[in-house]
Amino acid sequence: MLGLLFAISAVACFESSYADAVSITTVTAQNGVVFAYNRWWDPTWVNRVEFRCEYTISPAPATPPTITWLRGVFADQEVIYKWSSSGEVYVHPEYTGRVSVESRTRPTLVLFNETVWANRFWCRVTNEEQPGEFGMDEESSIFWFQTGSDWPKSLSHVSLDKTPVHADAGGTVQLNCTGGPTGRLATIFWVKGPSCTQGGSCDSYETVIHKSSGYGETETVTVSPNFAGRVSLATRHPFSDITPTLTITNIRPSDAGRYWCSTNYADIYSSSLGPWNRGAQSVVILVNDPGTEPTCAGKPDGMYQHPADCAQFYTCSGGLSYGTNNCPAGLVFNQELQLCDWANNVICL
Ligand SMILES: *[C@@H]1O[C@H](CO)[C@@H](O)[C@H](O)[C@H]1NC(C)=O
Ligand SMILES: *[C@@H]1O[C@H](CO)[C@@H](O)[C@H](O)[C@H]1NC(C)=O
Repeated sequence: MLGLLFAISAVACFESSYADAVSITTVTAQNGVVFAYNRWWDPTWVNRVEFRCEYTISPAPATPPTITWLRGVFADQEVIYKWSSSGEVYVHPEYTGRVSVESRTRPTLVLFNETVWANRFWCRVTNEEQPGEFGMDEESSIFWFQTGSDWPKSLSHVSLDKTPVHADAGGTVQLNCTGGPTGRLATIFWVKGPSCTQGGSCDSYETVIHKSSGYGETETVTVSPNFAGRVSLATRHPFSDITPTLTITNIRPSDAGRYWCSTNYADIYSSSLGPWNRGAQSVVILVNDPGTEPTCAGKPDGMYQHPADCAQFYTCSGGLSYGTNNCPAGLVFNQELQLCDWANNVICL
């Protein structure tokens, strides 16, 4: 009977904490071009390239993340290699015997005998315990098979500071995306997501803002209804230099999530979508909702389980709050013992 009681309270605890205690995945790949110089005349030449990738997941999950390498342009990719959380490995038939991934903690992709002229490869890390936009991140590198004097042109190569942004409800956030292409002829878009469907696929994105290329005075800016009147792209000069930096005003709690900055050289290229297009990088926005901050007024000094999330605790001294802290992953705060404890020893208040 007692065991059952604890089991029920642990489930309730998970549900109430879900929206607050997010674990954020951040991926950093070699954001540039990886060349293979064709030296067919050299008998010692080995066509082998590496795509470096690193990641952090904070707080760390109990199970290892899924590592996926994909090829294509942002939001239109196919899996070439997948190392699932469960340990299962999938390799796309075209890559059988030609790909390997160094380790789960350093998922560098080693690729042999790739002779496709150009491709974009993505390193995606998914924390299966945190589905959707907080748990998944990816970054890409362009592969270029150099056979003559051809050279990558007009690369979509964007970057932004990936440190999660803490915003206040009602406040303003500026996401400083740099790189390009920028300007009137560039297509610039920001999307939010991915969100997961009930079927379990996490691949649907919301287009926050989209600026089409300015060919023939056709430049248009489209904004998602959720962000109407609240988002803008940076403009340094009205006709020549539109940059991807995004400003969101009057932040709402529902704005919390992952935002991707992405660019194309121009719309006329999007039908063929060369892999030099649609690079992307993402950053997470977290919204401090003042309504959920616990108060220390009238409370004796000590540490208290957070009312919205029992995996967090806040410290009170002299009636003032000294901030909220997270317990290590998998533990929840035991107010009686004043420490982080196994979930089955604790009742979430
Ligand atoms: C790459 O191609 C060379 C030459 O055809 C071949 O000898 C080698 O086994 C291939 N390596 C892999 C890993 O497929
Ligand atoms: C973007 O740049 C502006 C101006 O330099 C700065 O105030 C803002 O904090 C930056 N945004 C982020 C998310 O770092």
